[in-house]
Amino acid sequence: MSLLSIRNLTTVFHAKEGEIRACNNIDLDIAVGKSVGIIGETGCGKSVLGMSILRLLPRNVTTSGEIWYKNQNLLTLTANQLEKIRGTEIALLPQSPSTSLNPVIKTGLQITEGLQIHRKMKPSTARRQALEMLRILHLPVPEKKYQEYPHQMSGGMKQRILAAISITGQPSLLIADEPTKGLDAVLRAQVVELLQQLIRETGASLLLITHDLKVAARLCDEIGVMYAGEVIERGPAQKVLTEPEHHYTKGLLASLPDMGLCPIPGSSPSLLNQTTGCKFYPRCSARQEACRINPVPLQMCNGCYVRCLYSA
Ligand SMILES: Nc1ncnc2c1ncn2[C@@H]1O[C@H](COP(=O)(O)OP(=O)(O)O)[C@@H](O)[C@H]1O
Ligand SMILES: [Mg+2]
Repeated sequence: MSLLSIRNLTTVFHAKEGEIRACNNIDLDIAVGKSVGIIGETGCGKSVLGMSILRLLPRNVTTSGEIWYKNQNLLTLTANQLEKIRGTEIALLPQSPSTSLNPVIKTGLQITEGLQIHRKMKPSTARRQALEMLRILHLPVPEKKYQEYPHQMSGGMKQRILAAISITGQPSLLIADEPTKGLDAVLRAQVVELLQQLIRETGASLLLITHDLKVAARLCDEIGVMYAGEVIERGPAQKVLTEPEHHYTKGLLASLPDMGLCPIPGSSPSLLNQTTGCKFYPRCSARQEACRINPVPLQMCNGCYVRCLYSA
């Protein structure tokens, strides 16, 4: 059963230069208790997709389409209705622990406050629960950590505090935006383990936004690959990450260090003034004239949905 169903989502920035289509006709489903990864190069629209779900975008943005969550279309809810969903039903684990934590409030207290707001707990109960969460997240000497300010903690610990805050409302869906970006291998492994633990213990679904395909392989049941604002391939993680159908996904895998570090020639297109045909056309080794002109729908191909006229 789908927890979240995104249909035809299009998110446009009305900038001075013109209309920037950061998300273009996106369809995506996340089933109850499942993890879906969104991968793709920087600037392809991954974060905008995550923020579109919780409507956390600036005022110069218009969003169209449908985002169904438990029988409600999030795009038609009032600000008040949406506020009830943020944090308690759908939570965002933001990218940067350093800038997302409040620097002048003790980290433990930030978790306690989350519990008081989202679960209406009394201060003493919330404090006990916050300490329990620190224990579950394997923070050494939780009573001591509770009293520390963000600057007294390592990056990995701050990431865990943020994760704890993001689940204080017991969300059914956690959106994690690049939770491992900029971390060394040890911290990366810790964060992956932490996310595994969170979804296992809470039964929450996960939308994992990442450019790290190894992290996606570890955590996700399904993968959606984005290119220039579109989902160009989606399917079971194992299939997409080992035998992809789309030429862009194949190129992305070949550019990994383990796979020969062979970059895709050219660069991603501008999201301004987009063309009707395949966005990957100029860089694709298998391109045909039809790819440039015709709109390319997502079609079922060998167990994946693929936006390519000549896949397989
Ligand atoms: N505040 C903004 N103003 C104008 N355009 C933006 C803004 N934020 C993002 N964009 C556009 O949306 C595209 C996708 O951005 P983003 O979702 O952050 O990419 P990423 O896949 O790296 O997370 C960018 O390439 C940019 O063109
Ligand atoms: Mg991003």
